[in-house]
Amino acid sequence: MSDSTNVTPNNLDAFWMPFTANRQFKKAPRMFVAAKDMYYTTADGRKVLDATAGLWCVNAGHCRPKIVEAIRKQAGELDYAPAFQLAHPKAFELANRLVDIAPEGMNHVLYTNSGSESVETALKVALAYHRAKGEGSRFRLIGRERGYHGVNFGGISVGGIVANRKMFGTLLTGVDHLPHTHLPEKNAFTKGQPEHGGDLASELERIVTLHDPSTVAAVIVEPVAGSTGVLIPPKGYLKKLREICTKYGILLVFDEVITGYGRLGTPFAAQYYDVKPDIIITAKGLTNGVIPMGAVFVTSAIHDAFMSGPEHMIEFFHGYTYSGNPMASAAALATLDTYKEEGLLTRAAELAPYWEEQLHSLRDCPYVIDIRNTGLIGAIELEPIAGEPTKRAFTAFLKAYEDGLLIRTTGDIIALSPPLIISKSEIDELFEKLRKVLMNSI
Ligand SMILES: Cc1ncc(COP(=O)(O)O)c(C=O)c1O
Repeated sequence: MSDSTNVTPNNLDAFWMPFTANRQFKKAPRMFVAAKDMYYTTADGRKVLDATAGLWCVNAGHCRPKIVEAIRKQAGELDYAPAFQLAHPKAFELANRLVDIAPEGMNHVLYTNSGSESVETALKVALAYHRAKGEGSRFRLIGRERGYHGVNFGGISVGGIVANRKMFGTLLTGVDHLPHTHLPEKNAFTKGQPEHGGDLASELERIVTLHDPSTVAAVIVEPVAGSTGVLIPPKGYLKKLREICTKYGILLVFDEVITGYGRLGTPFAAQYYDVKPDIIITAKGLTNGVIPMGAVFVTSAIHDAFMSGPEHMIEFFHGYTYSGNPMASAAALATLDTYKEEGLLTRAAELAPYWEEQLHSLRDCPYVIDIRNTGLIGAIELEPIAGEPTKRAFTAFLKAYEDGLLIRTTGDIIALSPPLIISKSEIDELFEKLRKVLMNSI
């Protein structure tokens, strides 16, 4: 029964799967049993091209030797070290290496175990920072409609995906939301940053003055919104948010859980868009998705605000049993080595023009109402079937999987984010397979 190739619907009951149509899945399970570089292998022995880097996380491709070896070695050397009042050297080595690739001035790192925990950590840092500075009246957090910031209470409160919020009561108080920037009637089929919608950032000023700026702690946005179906920031939008935050002493938080570690062709989106936030949230690509780990970057100004009071006192009452865990740190260090040796943190910039051209070549396929892209991210928005939202894209997902291609769908949008090692011929394979699905199957 434990043989991974011998699973039948009869023994799939116990695992309540996350963000999954459980009943549909368990009738016709889709199981991976192995992976290498750009391909998964299914339980029935088929190869599936990974056009989603797992879940936006396997940026260096699968089962990369250096990462595998680092984890093996670490498991036999130091399995665990307490994270509170004690440490191990790799956690520090990693933090230094991370600071080196981060935007200038992001000099300190807090560790977590996931994107969701990174979000909670960032929001707590923001609130506590203002309090440490004597501005405890700043308790409000501002997110954005259609934003995704993980699934914990802070994250769903500032997040703006209705299905992820509506079942869970009152959420955090003191939260408001910017409007989203999806303007298909003006921006459909834009390559890169849309022309229209930059002015929507000015809504921040309206919201901030409505509540009084002295009550606002932080604004949190994904530089490129991923989970909602890939929304690229309109021209000027992020710079305007920065300006308004600076004007009113509000912290700007970039949730870079999907854009971090090379997705756009720079280590972080903050560098790509040349906008410096006060806090950067990361996870996923930090360890190539192999071991759960997140990292939250903060400026020296934020860090230093906490460094007062008696030296024997804890400065920030927050952390996790697994913060900076030795196995995760080893995996992250080997991941950074792999990124560096193979130039993966900037490779998306070289591939982006080819990627864009191939992606937009699907414009003539049936039901395609928008295509958008940046770096090695692409989205194809499909016209929903009347009365049956999400069904058309889900059908495409199932068909693509049968045809040996892993895509991700959200609503009626197909989102693509392949490992950054993808070759041009694999890009061709991806879009040939996807064209076939779109032309024949949906
Ligand atoms: C922007 C963003 N923030 C947070 C998260 C949550 O990360 P995790 O699933 O690791 O908790 C995600 C996951 O997709 C994300 O895309």
